[in-house]
Amino acid sequence: MARKPMMAGNWKMNNTIAEAVVLTQEISNQYDKETWGEDVDIVICPPYVDLKPAKTVLDFDRTKIAVGAQNVYWEPSGAFTGEISVPMLKEIGCAYCIVGHSERRELFGETNEDVNRKVKALVEAGLYAIVCVGESLAVRDEGTTEEFVCAQVRAAFAGVDAADAQRCVVAYEPIWAIGTGRTATPEQAEAVCAAIRATLADLYGAEVAEGMRVLYGGSMNPGNVEGLLAQPNIDGGLIGGASLKCESFVQLIEACL
Ligand code: 13P
Repeated sequence: MARKPMMAGNWKMNNTIAEAVVLTQEISNQYDKETWGEDVDIVICPPYVDLKPAKTVLDFDRTKIAVGAQNVYWEPSGAFTGEISVPMLKEIGCAYCIVGHSERRELFGETNEDVNRKVKALVEAGLYAIVCVGESLAVRDEGTTEEFVCAQVRAAFAGVDAADAQRCVVAYEPIWAIGTGRTATPEQAEAVCAAIRATLADLYGAEVAEGMRVLYGGSMNPGNVEGLLAQPNIDGGLIGGASLKCESFVQLIEACL
């Protein structure tokens, strides 16, 4: 089954509102209705405060570029100081939300159980979760990468049915490749993405798994994107650094076409 490629930009903690509006407008100015609108799904994931301004620019320009958040809390409201809920994201018009990014797992102590709660809260509300998984260098050196990553996938989707799982995208992001300039080789990335798809097939059957997108993330840039996208189980990218410049992000989008 042909899967529609996806390019998602994770801005992380970069860009004030003013900066976000400039970058979003630059990207929007390059929007090509015929190709970008039809043949690739494009998502930008700015910090919370930038979501509404970015969405306003993209809607005003009538683009199909979606906005996504980088995190969410699973309760709908209440005494959870500093957190943001799914209904809040939904009202802004966020279609996507990244969950379980390694920076959240490592720096903020997010567990597999937390990731699972977030995935459930998102899909129940009709949003698309971008579920991040990936191993540290220590795990890779031990030779247990696929086992580790597939266990993260199983935990993230525990209790999620096939119809809701189809609202999700999995992003394989080896921690040692994030922001380091050290990309996984296409073969390394493909091996893990294929294992992720096999796990999804085990959970939901081959047909559902064939329809779900698996992205690669970790120092993806215009110089290495082609080899990665050529792999049968890599359906696009989750981009950090290279999504912060219009020129490189546009090149990555174009590489999907
Ligand atoms: P870089 O593209 O900067 O390596 O970041 C990848 C990433 O973590 C995207 O979520």
